[in-house]
Amino acid sequence: MDVLLGLQWGDEGKGKVVDVLAARYGVVARFQGGPNAGHSLEMEGKRYVLHTIPSGVFRPGAVNIIGNGVVIDPIIFREEVSMLEAAGIDLHSSLYISRKAHLILPSHRALDAATEQAKGKDRVGSTLKGIGPTYMDKTGRNGLRVGDTELPDFKARYQALRDKHCGILAQYPTEVDFAQHEEEWFKGVECLREYQLADTEVMVNGYLDRGESVLAEGAQGTMLDIDFGSYPFVTSSSTVCAGACIGLGVAPARVGRVYGIFKAYCTRVGAGPFPTELHDATGELLREAGHEFGATTGRPRRCGWLDLVALRYAIMLNGVTDLIMTKADVLSGFDAVRVATRYLLHSGETRTLPYTLDSDLQPLYDECPGWQTPNASTYGELPGNLQHYVAYLERETGVPISMISVGPDRSQTIER
Ligand code: GDP
Ligand code: IMO
Ligand code: MG
Repeated sequence: MDVLLGLQWGDEGKGKVVDVLAARYGVVARFQGGPNAGHSLEMEGKRYVLHTIPSGVFRPGAVNIIGNGVVIDPIIFREEVSMLEAAGIDLHSSLYISRKAHLILPSHRALDAATEQAKGKDRVGSTLKGIGPTYMDKTGRNGLRVGDTELPDFKARYQALRDKHCGILAQYPTEVDFAQHEEEWFKGVECLREYQLADTEVMVNGYLDRGESVLAEGAQGTMLDIDFGSYPFVTSSSTVCAGACIGLGVAPARVGRVYGIFKAYCTRVGAGPFPTELHDATGELLREAGHEFGATTGRPRRCGWLDLVALRYAIMLNGVTDLIMTKADVLSGFDAVRVATRYLLHSGETRTLPYTLDSDLQPLYDECPGWQTPNASTYGELPGNLQHYVAYLERETGVPISMISVGPDRSQTIER
């Protein structure tokens, strides 16, 4: 099983690249996260955004799996499958959903909103999709799972959990009304049940036993990981490579290549430290040129230069074998491109990520000569200075960059 995951704060272009790679895999499987993810795919002038469904669905013949590590909101799932149906993609025979995946209830979303509001200026900037409360119920052993929808007392189980949530919500000052979403939620559950619910961990291992190729698709990014990200400004799942083993039920020794994807610069949406963030015209330029607005929430993304301290840390945690760099085209037109290689702290310089990313931490930069629009279909045709940037990053990280993305369309991809 190969794994593709984000090395930064999410939105690295995972959807686009999974769609490109999926042509070579028999199975594509999402292993964590939920509809907080927004994975964009572009082909033949059309753009699609996927939240829960794996990004292999546009490749005919591929099996797509939503693994046990994913959390599913049936309302969003139903919207997603009808969007795909309208695009001519029918998933009834090619999509499998783990019975062990947890369900996001309308009351989980209400809890997400209430807790975020109560945090005030300290809020995480969550996508408000109910992710945190759902994973809390999972680890707290209260959650509802996809497989529970097949049980005769499902409705009673739903009501018990909802009532529990209502008790918690009563402690918050503002009332969040979710009653109007319940009917829609149960319609979503009906829709979910029209698809193939399965013990996907057994399926995935069976595919691997038969020599089928499996690509695990991550959501979010390493710097949003619950253990290793910029806690508490993180998501609630394991976004690192080990999360693919847990989120699909695959043994670590079965992991082959690990594709680590990063933007040629950095973005972050939501709150939390971001050492190389640019608050000036250059940051604005990156946001405009890169269309850096969230695929799920539409929020403007914070932008900054590439951070090698964080990138090296992410490569270490994931055991990245192949780097994939996206949005090289967005950096076109700069005279020089900057890259943070170390941080200046009170205690001196460091090349490794410190425990806290305080605001008085100062990134120290290298400068690489800039390039013009990379209108190319082969590596050799890319501007010399972009090739220089690639070689520089490979030297700094010790990992080959095997793919470079120079535009949002699936065709705008250069392999080496
Ligand atoms: P994901 O969450 O990692 O799948 O990434 P998103 O889809 O949230 O955000 C990436 C955005 O950049 C999307 O709008 C993509 O269409 C777009 N994109 C992906 N690769 C490239 C690229 O190489 N160049 C440009 N200009 N846009 C890209
Ligand atoms: P993809 O898969 C970027 C961020 C939110 C917030 C924090 C916690 O598209 O890369 P959550 O809703 O998970 O409780 O929010 O994590 N976040 C993302 N940022 N891309 C994502 O997904 C994200 N999913 C969550 O903005 O700061
Ligand atoms: Mg995204």
